[in-house]
Amino acid sequence: MARLTYTFLALLAFLGAAVTACTSDNSEDIDPQPKPQPEQCDTTNVTFAKTVSPILAANCYSCHSSSVATNGVVLDTYAGVQKQANNGNLVGVITHAPGYPPMPQGGAKLPACDINKIKSWVKAGAPNN
Ligand code: HEC
Repeated sequence: MARLTYTFLALLAFLGAAVTACTSDNSEDIDPQPKPQPEQCDTTNVTFAKTVSPILAANCYSCHSSSVATNGVVLDTYAGVQKQANNGNLVGVITHAPGYPPMPQGGAKLPACDINKIKSWVKAGAPNN
């Protein structure tokens, strides 16, 4: 009987230690360091020639150029891009908005920063700059 009591006490002590360990672990989880900020996306000085065109060239020309104008969409000329910008299709397809076929078709969504740059260019009136 004494041995059983001892075992029981030992078990209690062990559980107590385990609970204490958990408690102190939790306090270590509180990170005093501020989380690093996600990389800034610079949407100032966005131009058609230097910003928008290269993004479209890398992701869209394979299906939407003057020679391969899938769905009548031409993205390797300013006039072609301006048309899709002004009718809302350009931003709709790259943001995967409801009601638009998501682009690039069959590929990953563009990086958020590229999307923001194109959006800011469209918002500025899609200038030929
Ligand atoms: C692999 C081929 C392919 C790629 C790459 C691709 N598209 Fe498309 N795109 C299509 C097809 C196919 C359609 C017609 C889809 C439909 O109507 O369901 C289309 C349609 C469109 C439309 C017309 C949407 C409408 O409602 O009329 C726009 C705008 C467009 N794409 C823009 C883009 C942009 C911008 C990119 C690059 C970010 C891109 N596409 C990349 C194949 C592609």
